[in-house]
Amino acid sequence: MTAKAKLLSDYQAPDFTIDQIELTIELDAENTKVTSTLRVQRQGKHDRPLILDGEQLQLQSLHIDGQAVPQQQYHQTDSTLTISDIGDELTVDIVVTINPAANTSLEGLYLSDGAFCTQCEAEGFRKITYYLDRPDVLARFTTKIIGDVEQFPFMLSNGNQIAKQQLADGRTAVTWQDPFPKPCYLFALVAGDFDLLEDSFTTMSGRDVCLQLFVDKGNLDRADYAMESLKNSMAWDEKVYGLEYDLDIYMVVAVDFFNMGAMENKGLNVFNSKYVLANPSSATDQDFNGIESVIGHEYFHNWTGNRVTCRDWFQLSLKEGLTVFRDQCFSEDMTGSAVNRIDDVAIIRSHQFAEDAGPMAHPIRPQSVIEMNNFYTVTVYNKGAEVIRMMHTLLGADGFRRGMDLYFERHDGQAVTCDDFVAAMEDANSFDLSHFKTWYQQAGTPEVTVTDHYDADSQTYTLEFSQQTPATADQADKKATHVPLRLGLYDSDGAALPLNTDSPLTDGNVYSLITDTDTLVFNGVASHPTPALLKGFSAPIKLSYDYSDEQLLTLSQHCDDGFTRWDAMQTLLARYIWGIADGVINEVPTQVIAGLVAISQNQHIDDALKARLLQLPTVNGLLNQREQIDIHALLDALETIRQQVAPALHQTCTSLYSELQQSQYSLDAASIAKRSLSASCLSWIAEANGQQADQLCQSLYDSSDNMTEQLNALTIANRFDLPCRSSLMDQFEQRWQDDGLVMDKWLNLQGCWNSEQCFDNLKTVEAKPFFKLTNPNRARSLIAGFAAMNYRYFHAEDGSGYQWLSQKIQNLNSINPQIAARLINPLTQWRKFTAPQSIQMKACLEQIYQLKDLSKDLHEIVGKSLE
Ligand code: PHE
Ligand code: ZN
Repeated sequence: MTAKAKLLSDYQAPDFTIDQIELTIELDAENTKVTSTLRVQRQGKHDRPLILDGEQLQLQSLHIDGQAVPQQQYHQTDSTLTISDIGDELTVDIVVTINPAANTSLEGLYLSDGAFCTQCEAEGFRKITYYLDRPDVLARFTTKIIGDVEQFPFMLSNGNQIAKQQLADGRTAVTWQDPFPKPCYLFALVAGDFDLLEDSFTTMSGRDVCLQLFVDKGNLDRADYAMESLKNSMAWDEKVYGLEYDLDIYMVVAVDFFNMGAMENKGLNVFNSKYVLANPSSATDQDFNGIESVIGHEYFHNWTGNRVTCRDWFQLSLKEGLTVFRDQCFSEDMTGSAVNRIDDVAIIRSHQFAEDAGPMAHPIRPQSVIEMNNFYTVTVYNKGAEVIRMMHTLLGADGFRRGMDLYFERHDGQAVTCDDFVAAMEDANSFDLSHFKTWYQQAGTPEVTVTDHYDADSQTYTLEFSQQTPATADQADKKATHVPLRLGLYDSDGAALPLNTDSPLTDGNVYSLITDTDTLVFNGVASHPTPALLKGFSAPIKLSYDYSDEQLLTLSQHCDDGFTRWDAMQTLLARYIWGIADGVINEVPTQVIAGLVAISQNQHIDDALKARLLQLPTVNGLLNQREQIDIHALLDALETIRQQVAPALHQTCTSLYSELQQSQYSLDAASIAKRSLSASCLSWIAEANGQQADQLCQSLYDSSDNMTEQLNALTIANRFDLPCRSSLMDQFEQRWQDDGLVMDKWLNLQGCWNSEQCFDNLKTVEAKPFFKLTNPNRARSLIAGFAAMNYRYFHAEDGSGYQWLSQKIQNLNSINPQIAARLINPLTQWRKFTAPQSIQMKACLEQIYQLKDLSKDLHEIVGKSLE
C-alpha cells in the first residue's frame, strides 16, 4: 500500500463550498440508505470539477438540479466521486447505501451493541455519504432519521428536533435541524434504546437548557456524576471566559464501542461509556476524575472547536491544545489541588517526551500527515496545552482572557489557523509572540542547562542559561525558542528569598529565555541560594542544573511550589536509580532514605502531595532520560532501590496506613487524597513485608465498599504477586464478569502481571467471553496492560513478548486500524533499547510491514519506525 503524505504547505482553499445539506438516513443494520441534497457553490473563478470524498459507499443514484447525471459526466474511485462540467451553483442529490454492521473500524456509521452511532472526526463522514469532507466547508445540516421506533425509541442528531412523523410503512421519521453551520466532522447520529437522565441548566443570560444523558438500560445509577460535571463545566465556562451555551438542548450518549474518549459533535456528544458511567462501587477516584475532565473537555469544545473550528487538520491543536488547557484548569479549580499539575506533567514526561524523541516526532502543528487518525497525539493534545499554558503564563490571566475575547470577536463562525489564535493573543495585549511561534513549528524537547555563580563580596548571584533542541526524526536543525522559566530562590532552610534583578521578569517571577544563551544576575543575595528554575513546569522542556543532594532534599521538603517539590524528589531518586543501573554505586545514601522518611512523617504536607512524593520515578519517565537502555538492568535497579528504601519506610507507612482508614466513603478531595496516600503506603509495606501486605490486601478487599480501595488491594496483590492474588482476582471476576467496563480493570491487571506464568495466563484471559478484540476498551486494557506496563515480560529475553503484541496488532489491523496503530507504540520505541531487545523489536516491525493488507494507519507508523 502506498499512501501519499499531505503537506500543510500545500493547503488550498476549497474549489467549492456547501452551505446546506439535507440528509435522510434510513436505518438498516446491513443496508442503510443515505440520501443527501447538497447546495453547492463554486468558489472563485475556475473550471475545475467537483471532487467529493467518499469511501466504502455504494452509489445508487446521482442527480444535479433534478436531472440524472450521465455516466460520462462523473467518475468514481475508492475514495472520490468527481463530477465535471457543472455550473457555479447547483443542487446535488446523492443516494448511497452503506453497511454499518460490517463497520468494525468504528468510524462513520456503525453499531455499538445494537445501537446505531456515528464517529466522523477526522475523516469519517466520507464513510456515510459523498461530501467535501474537510473542516473549512461549513454547512447547515437538516437530518431526517427513519427507523423502527420500537427498536429505536431514541433517534437523535445535532440541533433541535423539528418534526416527527409516522410513515405509512410503520416506520418513524424524526427530523433534526442544527442552526449553526458546521463542518461535517461535527455531525452525529444516534439511534437506540437507552435510559435517560434529564436535568437543566439556566445560563447566565437566563435561558433554560435541557440536559440529557443517554446510557445503556440499567445504568442510571451510574450517570449522576457525569451530569454534575456537565453543569459544573457550563458554570465554569461562563465564570472564567464569559462563554454561554448556545442551543436549547445538550445531549450526551454513552456507548460501549468507541475508539477515543469522547466526541464534541454539536449538541450531541458521543462518549466512550468509560467517561460517563461511574458510581463508588464500580469506579475508582481516578475514573471520577477522568469523567469530570472529559465531560468538561467536550463541553468546552462548543466554543473552542465548534463555534471556532480548524481550517485544516494540521491545525488540530488549535482546538485540542486549547481545550485540554481549559479542561486542566477546570479540574484544578474543581479540586483546588496542586497534584493535578503533577499528574499532567507526568503525562508529558512519560509519554510526550518519548514521542518527541521517537520516529513519529512532530510539532504541535504537524507539517506532513499520511493518516490523520495518527495525529491525535500527546504532542498535539498535551504539549499543545502546554504551549497555550505558556501564553497564559506570559500574558497573565487577564491578558489571556483579553486574547480569548478578541479571538471569538474576530473568528466566531469561522474555520481558522493556529496563527489566527496567536495573532489574537498578540493584538489584544500588544505582545510580540513571533519568536514564541517556534513552538508551533518545531518538534523535539528543548533542553535548558543552567549553571550558577555566587559572589559573596558583591552579594550577587548569577544564573547562566543555555538552550538547545536535539534533532528529531522529522527535522534536523532547530532554532532557539521562547522558554518562560518561573523562578524562585531559597535559602538553606527552604525559605523563599526576594528576587532583585535589573532584568525584566513578568508577573510571578517569570523570566523569558529567548536566545541560545543568556545571563541573569540577582542582587542583594546574602548567601548561596538554592534555585527553583521551572516552577509549576512553566515550559515543556528538560532542565538540568547540578543540584546537590542536600539542595534537592531541601526543595522537596520546603519549596512553596508543589510541582518543584515532587520534581526535586524524582530527580534525586532517578540519580541513584541510574547509579545502580550503571553499576557505579550499590547503595542509596542514607540521607536520601532519611529524606523520604522525613517526608512520610511530615505532618505539614497534604496527603495527596505526600502520596506523589513517596512514589518512585516511573519506568517510562526514566526511559526518556537516556539513550540505549538496558531495560533489565534498569528494572533490577528499581527493584534494588525499593528494597533498600522499604525497611526504613515500613514503620511509618504501617502507622500512616492505619490512620488513613476511613469508616465512611466520600468523594471529596480530602478523602480521595487519603485513599491515594494509603495506596502508596500499602505498596511500601508490601515491599518490606509480603505477609503483612497479604493480610492487609485481603482485609481491605473484603471490608471495603468502594472500587478505589478494592482495586488498590488488587493492584498491590498483583504487583507483588501476593498469596491472596489469585483468589481476589477470581472473586472480582465472579462479581463483575458481566460488566465490561469494570472487567477492563481486571484485564489490565492480568496484562501487567509480573509472573513467569504470564504468557499462559494471557491465553486463558483472551479466551474469556468478556474479552473482545473488537471492543477498543477491552483490547486496550489487556494489550496495553501487557505491552506498556509489563516491562519484564514484554521485554522477555527470548522476544516472546514482542511476538505476542505483534500477533495482536496483525489481528487488529483488519478489525480496527486506528486501535492497532495506537497499540503498536511500544514496539516503535525499539531504538531506545540495547541489543538483543532492539533487534527483536525491529524484526517484529519488519514482519508487520510486510503484511499484505497493511492499513494506512500502521503503514505510516511502522514505515517511519523503520526509516
Ligand atoms: N475530538 C475528540 C476530543 O478531543 C477526540 C476524537 C478524535 C474522538 C477523533 C473521536 C475521533 O475530544
Ligand atoms: Zn478534544
